[in-house]
Amino acid sequence: MRLLGIGWAVREGKLYPVFVERIVFWCEWGEGMISESFITQLKLACDIESIISSYVPMKREGRNKKALCPFHLEKTPSFVIYEDTQSFYCFGCGAGGDVITFIMRIENLDYIEAVRFLAARVGMTVPEDGQDDRKARLKARILEMNREAARFFHANLKSPAGQAGLRYFAGRRLTKQTVVTYGLGYAPDDWHSLLRHLSSKGYSYEEQEAAALVVKSQKGNYYDQFRNRVMFPIIDLRGNVIGFGGRVLDDSKPKYLNSADTPVFKKSRNLFSLNFAKQAKERTLVLAEGYMDVIAMYQAGVHNVVATLGTALTSEQARLISQYADDVIIAYDSDEPGQIATAKASRLFEEAGVEARVLVLKDAKDPDEYIKKFGAGRFQVLLEQSENVTSSKFKRLKEKYDLELPDEKIKYLGEACGVIAGLYDSLERDVYASTLAAECGLTKEVVLDKVAAIRKSRFGRQKKREWRDIQSGRAAPPDRLNPESAKYPKEAAAEEGIIGFLCKNPDYLEYLLGKIQPGDFPTSWNKRLFELIVDKIQNNLPIELSFFNEQLSPDEMGRFSGILARFRELSNTKQSLDDYIDVLLKHKNRLKDEDRFDLPVDAYEKRRQELLKNKGK
Ligand code: UTP
Ligand code: MN
Repeated sequence: MRLLGIGWAVREGKLYPVFVERIVFWCEWGEGMISESFITQLKLACDIESIISSYVPMKREGRNKKALCPFHLEKTPSFVIYEDTQSFYCFGCGAGGDVITFIMRIENLDYIEAVRFLAARVGMTVPEDGQDDRKARLKARILEMNREAARFFHANLKSPAGQAGLRYFAGRRLTKQTVVTYGLGYAPDDWHSLLRHLSSKGYSYEEQEAAALVVKSQKGNYYDQFRNRVMFPIIDLRGNVIGFGGRVLDDSKPKYLNSADTPVFKKSRNLFSLNFAKQAKERTLVLAEGYMDVIAMYQAGVHNVVATLGTALTSEQARLISQYADDVIIAYDSDEPGQIATAKASRLFEEAGVEARVLVLKDAKDPDEYIKKFGAGRFQVLLEQSENVTSSKFKRLKEKYDLELPDEKIKYLGEACGVIAGLYDSLERDVYASTLAAECGLTKEVVLDKVAAIRKSRFGRQKKREWRDIQSGRAAPPDRLNPESAKYPKEAAAEEGIIGFLCKNPDYLEYLLGKIQPGDFPTSWNKRLFELIVDKIQNNLPIELSFFNEQLSPDEMGRFSGILARFRELSNTKQSLDDYIDVLLKHKNRLKDEDRFDLPVDAYEKRRQELLKNKGK
């Protein structure tokens, strides 16, 4: 963050110094300033463990619980949940904070929205204030507009202008019933038909643009986003139309156009047809690549099917799926991109704790085509035959090699052992090793030896790389929050030590301020954090992460949690505090020394004596 200067903000009747950019930030967040007592109550009702466990499975490890971090890709858990302080910290990526920060990050919400989200979850009512009504009103208007647009597109199918759309759906063998169920429609070949329609209903151009239904040209003219396309409304679990996908009728490009993200629509967080799939009440979901596959499957009687919205599966979507399914069948295209996407998706499901299977299509590009060619019945059989990811990998390998030829068989064994080596679970490795051994007429031990060797070299290589990165400083990405820490690493560590100590022992504030001042902190981010903490202590507030959510961004919360997490394990003697203070004082004196030649003669002499005395110690 660039700092533009210092300003003042009034909060709860007190005047606070803040950086100017923060004020802008605060005004946004500050709309719904929520009282500390409400936050305290909310936190009591929202145990961090139970909230986090609804997103990621955790394991107890000593006093705390650990999990695979939902905010970055990892294979061994470095995400720790501290029950006593109701906080979390990931030693891998530095995400951290309290339960509110967690929700802000994982649900992609701002502070107020996260508080509302949690409150709704535990049935509490957030004390209302008028200000952020504006945002809520715009969201409501966009939803109304979307519904109106969906009605308009759908109604077009019955008008002469919409016959092209109707013919298109018929050509793709969709029944009338399916068209009605999915509320499909047609956007006329006209630059302004939706614009005129929505305007006649009283929606302003700006509102239509905010809904991403209408676009503004560089010259400032507004025109319809979707033209001459068949339209697929995207509907959320509450039945709201949140966006659209639109397909061309011929081979022109882009084939599909999806609504841009709006205040009510985030592509990475939603799934097409989840509203129907949820009603199917099955604990298995089928994941398809596109709109038409979903609809064709639905029409073929497979109702528990969803698709992403023109993007690759995200970890958010994998988690969303994990809320509705224990296992998922990935039914992507049979071509190479489809297979690569399948591998990626299966990794995301593994992380989200969802069992993944893979649909293997033969003689068809995608489920839609398969159903058209071979019928719904055969498709359902195929679905039932879908195998887990590892088995399907073996199957594909077996097709690749001729196992009758010794050298091909050796290659097959090598690759198959590689697949087994990639499995986390030792039991699973054992089972597949047995199968592979039996198949190739070997003993299980030989296979497991090979697997162990692969694992050793793979993970050894990985460890070595990590270590090299740490040593070369590459592991530490440039510190955007506190860039000065690169220049003063030792001092920054001491500052963090002081902060960590003080948070645990607020009684030491007076002692500390007797020795150093915030101004003695060489790095400005730590200095600001220190000031915030000092301020809390001086106002008799407890040092709880929750009371920092409004002043610190989620990234800053992560940093703060990291400091707390690291120092909670360390000994907290007064000696360690004195050592940290010493580092900062030495730095201060060094700065002084740098300009000692500018000192008046007697001051210079005094300083020289001081230095000599210190050396003697
Ligand atoms: P495909 O190109 O596989 O299309 O894209 P499809 O589903 O088989 O479509 P049909 O059968 O030709 O109608 C799969 C998905 O990728 C996204 C869409 O969500 C589509 O459903 N996509 C594809 C886009 O967003 N934009 C594009 O230009 C193409
Ligand atoms: Mn297709």
